[in-house]
Amino acid sequence: MRAAVRAYAQLLDGAHRLLALSVVLSVVQSLVLLPAALLVRRIFDTDLPHHDSTGVTWTGAAVLVLYVLSALVGLANRWVVVIATKDAMTRLRTRLWHRLYELPRGWYDAQEPGRVHGSVVQDTERLDLVISQSLSVFLPAVVVTAALGVLAAVLDPLLTLVLAGVLPLLTLLSRWLGAVVERYAQDWHRHFDRFSAEVTQGLRGMVMVTALGTAEAELARRTRTVEALSESGRRLAWRVSAWTIAQGTVAAGAGIAVLVVGGREVSAGSLTIGALLSFYAIAALLLRSVSTVVGALPALVTGGASLRRVQEVLDADAEPPYRGTRRIEFSGDVRLEGVSFGYDERPLIRDLDLVLRPGERVALVGPNGAGKSTVTALVLGLYRPQSGVVRADGVAYDELDLAHLRARFGVVLQELVLADGTVAEAIRHGREATMEQVRLAARRAGADAVVAGLADGYDARIGEEGSLLSGGQRQRIGLARALLGEPRLVVLDEPTTHLDDAAIAHLLTTLAELPWRPSVLVVTHDSAAAASADRVVVLRDGRTAAQEVPVP
Ligand SMILES: Nc1ncnc2c1ncn2[C@@H]1O[C@H](COP(=O)(O)OP(=O)(O)OP(=O)(O)O)[C@@H](O)[C@H]1O
Ligand SMILES: [Mg+2]
Repeated sequence: MRAAVRAYAQLLDGAHRLLALSVVLSVVQSLVLLPAALLVRRIFDTDLPHHDSTGVTWTGAAVLVLYVLSALVGLANRWVVVIATKDAMTRLRTRLWHRLYELPRGWYDAQEPGRVHGSVVQDTERLDLVISQSLSVFLPAVVVTAALGVLAAVLDPLLTLVLAGVLPLLTLLSRWLGAVVERYAQDWHRHFDRFSAEVTQGLRGMVMVTALGTAEAELARRTRTVEALSESGRRLAWRVSAWTIAQGTVAAGAGIAVLVVGGREVSAGSLTIGALLSFYAIAALLLRSVSTVVGALPALVTGGASLRRVQEVLDADAEPPYRGTRRIEFSGDVRLEGVSFGYDERPLIRDLDLVLRPGERVALVGPNGAGKSTVTALVLGLYRPQSGVVRADGVAYDELDLAHLRARFGVVLQELVLADGTVAEAIRHGREATMEQVRLAARRAGADAVVAGLADGYDARIGEEGSLLSGGQRQRIGLARALLGEPRLVVLDEPTTHLDDAAIAHLLTTLAELPWRPSVLVVTHDSAAAASADRVVVLRDGRTAAQEVPVP
């Protein structure tokens, strides 16, 4: 619970001034009710005994005006808190994006499927709701409760003591049921992550499932997940309801206690009916705001669980592989020196030396699983070797500003992912480039032929991850993206898988004739592609050092 409070405080870090204003408004909102209580007492103790009906009307009207005033201040207060919370959510989501772009590949590899997506989308959405709805009610209610408590104590200390008798019980309830609800909320989150991951996977694999005819089995699995999620949701909702109702009952009990104790005092003559009723009016308001405070607790606790999960992403103890700051011109010279690397304890690459001189075209070949894509990932600086060093123009990656260096790379990964949008947007991928540059890159990659066949040309939409294009068309656009900006180093991981013979020939000619002569590292199973390189490096078992096979 304390951790949740700290996390919320941190979340609202930039909103202190707005929250302070909200507290002031809450105090004003309660103070306006003090004269109202005194006026109620006046009705019963002065106006009624004197049969002063005009007095009753005017006093009643004055009470009404005060209530309306208090409500208006409450409205202004709500507005202030909504602004503060929405700002906080914007800051949180922006921070999350920043962090997600910083976190290294290795961290993503280690995450449960659906977990990160769940935190970024569902957890922040849940927090947004909890904070907007609960906190915008909760915080003012805390202040109003405190202020009304003081007011009640001024009006009648003894009855206030009776009222305060419920506090220990409410605290105990919150401690106990709060912990229970938190546990069930975590369980529910786990189920929701699984569901969320399955939706993503299920949608991606939809065509495959239809083709394999395994829809029934898939459906059975998906249904089991949905049922487990709803079972977990039921367990959580039941505990939340029990908590809310228990709190309401305790609060109502306090109201009854006040009536009984106060009623006995009135019959004993030590209290006027007006004093009792005015105290009861304040007590009713007080109990309502106490109920609001404690009623918001379950949502705050489940929201706290979401906040902690978001915090785990923000505070992830994962360093980027390299954190240097040096920027170099970069001529395209990359070297792996005595590099050893494994995704886990098992070594995959052992003592590998690989040299790529400026302007040189090197083909990396070897059986499936040998570690070729892993070598490209090491060249891109996505992972850090366990030993050995990677250098660009003789400077160790450790010293370099890798983002700056990578801007000089052109890359086609084995798993090609194109940005949703138009062909031109996919080729640009967020970079500045004129239409002329886009066209030139497309021509070099043989993607101009793809564009020519599309009704809208460069403005044609390519669908989610290029789903409206053929495999080869996607690959050509991926190549165009890699060649845009005339990179000093081009890394292509099996760029020819989907290409027809003509396209492969075109690609090889292009790579040989690029006017700025970049270095090229091409991973390939295609013998023509390998033969056209200046040098072929064979990677075997992912363990042996590379052997260089001179091309005749
Ligand atoms: N992110 C990862 N986490 C853990 N293991 C991985 C990861 N990526 C690859 N591997 C493992 O590392 C080994 C080498 O994979 P890699 O993708 O480098 O092979 P490859 O030579 O490119 O194979 P292919 O010709 O099939 O593309 C494989 O056994 C693979 O299971
Ligand atoms: Mg590979």
